[in-house]
Amino acid sequence: MRIPEQKVEEILHSADIVDMIGQHVQLRKRGKNYVGLCPFHNEKTPSFTVNQDKQIFYCFGCQEGGNIYKFLMNYKKISYVEAIQEVAADLGITIDYEENRSGVLSETEILYEINEEAARFFSNNLLKNAEGERAKIYFDSRKIKIATIRSFGLGYALTKRDALVDYFVAKKIDINKAIELGLIGRSEKGALYDRFYNRLIFPIFSPNGRVIAFAGRVFETSENMAKYLNSPESKVYFKGRILYGLSHSKEEIRKLNSAILVEGYMDLISLHQYGVKNVVAVSGTSLTDDQVQLLSRYTKNVVLLFDADNAGVKASMRSIEILLKQDMNIKIVSLPSGEDPDSFVQKFGKDEFVNQINRAQNFMEFQFSIYEAQGKFADPVTSAETIRELIKPIGLITDELKRSMLIKSLAEKFNLREKLLETETEKILKKIEIDAKRTNTSPNTKAALELIEQDVSKREKELKPVIRVEKELIQFLLDGNPKVIDYIFSQIDLDDFYLLEHHKIAALIYDIYKEENYFNVNSLLSKLEEDNLQKYCLELSIEKYRVSDKWDSKHVVEKDKNSLKHLNDVIKKFKLFPLEQRMKEVLAEMKQTADEKSQLDLMKENTELSKEKKLIEQKYS
Ligand code: GTP
Ligand code: MN
Repeated sequence: MRIPEQKVEEILHSADIVDMIGQHVQLRKRGKNYVGLCPFHNEKTPSFTVNQDKQIFYCFGCQEGGNIYKFLMNYKKISYVEAIQEVAADLGITIDYEENRSGVLSETEILYEINEEAARFFSNNLLKNAEGERAKIYFDSRKIKIATIRSFGLGYALTKRDALVDYFVAKKIDINKAIELGLIGRSEKGALYDRFYNRLIFPIFSPNGRVIAFAGRVFETSENMAKYLNSPESKVYFKGRILYGLSHSKEEIRKLNSAILVEGYMDLISLHQYGVKNVVAVSGTSLTDDQVQLLSRYTKNVVLLFDADNAGVKASMRSIEILLKQDMNIKIVSLPSGEDPDSFVQKFGKDEFVNQINRAQNFMEFQFSIYEAQGKFADPVTSAETIRELIKPIGLITDELKRSMLIKSLAEKFNLREKLLETETEKILKKIEIDAKRTNTSPNTKAALELIEQDVSKREKELKPVIRVEKELIQFLLDGNPKVIDYIFSQIDLDDFYLLEHHKIAALIYDIYKEENYFNVNSLLSKLEEDNLQKYCLELSIEKYRVSDKWDSKHVVEKDKNSLKHLNDVIKKFKLFPLEQRMKEVLAEMKQTADEKSQLDLMKENTELSKEKKLIEQKYS
């Protein structure tokens, strides 16, 4: 069954985002927007913003944002289709479903199906193919039962180098899509081969239980071969946003209101088998903000259970900061040296494991004991520095009450005056604030924007001013006023955008506008694949102060002029930038060269440039 695309649009157009969100979040009008306390992260002052004109929401604190469907999906943890059904029901719209023909499957749906087909293949290899016996023996040696193998869809990739290729060809599966998913590779000569062969297979699931990627483990670990091979990122798999095992564990996590965070696939599976089911695994990467955000939808309480080696300690320290930033409550278990959660539970059993969890340290005790073991409290100088180190993470906590409680316990521990520690924390907070203010955005958003601006690398400094101007142009476009869009595209060539991302956004807006003679942010968001760009556009289009507000309003003519004036000003700056850059270069070259002919040429060029500059200045003032 499938909801026709037209219907999806119709429902979206009929709904009012302020009404619908207002049923769950208390909203207050502020200027053009509505604001309220964000349901997706912990906050005391509202940064959750809803814009009625554009029918989008965006939280400046946690960067969650999108249309009403997105809101309901995240708020109620439901699927896209369920969100549409919910809005339709609210509006009293009945949906006539289409039959699901494979030709009309969405692209991501096709990718999911290919992954599921592959998962079936790997699983059958293990359970039904004679060659799979060795995989059964392996899992048996690791005390993994058949029921567990089934429940986690574990599989086996045959030793033959093109078994999956043959299978996919026979099943008429789109090979290019299988290549996109990293299941199949194509050699330079064009030969197809399996990327996963001779490995134990761990399917990776989305929180809703769809297969989105695979990890393949070698049978015997050796120095010259990676232990795990992973699917590359794809349209359905974003590494930093997935927690392994969440689909299997989410109910238990919610029920117990606590999650145990481990490192490895085997750790998670083994714990599940022993009845510890509120576990997720980071798997390979270091913990990311997105992973924490995902987890925080289920619980705010996390027990870190990383391996007892050096790498594990380092990973824990890093993870603490990331978790604190999102106001998670953190406890840490240090397993006896040489053990990982899998080996520990196998050796000592569930009760002893639960004991360890119950005796978990809070994160400051953990950090304290690590620093102590490193001898950092041995003399007064390093000791003072170390205390400062211990305070740093406290500065990341936004909850004031929690912060002061931690300061109190730290003060008691070191027999220090609380006030002293508070001053230190204040300092750190100030610094975080200043860093964020520099770009006039929240710390989280700053990170996202930085990612975008990283691309500019070397020319970054030079280009910063013009990128700021571009940003304003994009904002004008995002407003969706046809007059403004027409005007901008009549004055500016798409290829003139400096920042790749800006070019991409502008080009998409251009396409949508040309095709539909209409543009709003919602139609853009669904076409932007990168999450970063989506957030960026949401943020730009919902910003608190909007330069073009007055363009549309029936206010006095003078005000109307004002905003056209502003737009012209922006266009002027944009057009002047390359000229002024060139003029600077010309002047520099003039100073350097002694050759008369070149001098003359440069002077001529300079005159030309000045003329052009004047023209632009006149045209847009
Ligand atoms: P076993 O050795 O079977 O117990 O696996 P493990 O999960 O305990 O492995 P380990 O503790 O060595 O690593 C922890 C996690 O890091 C693994 O589950 C993987 O997610 C990841 N990892 C380890 N080695 C590799 C590797 O070579 N490549 C990739 N991509 N990830 C790895
Ligand atoms: Mn292990």
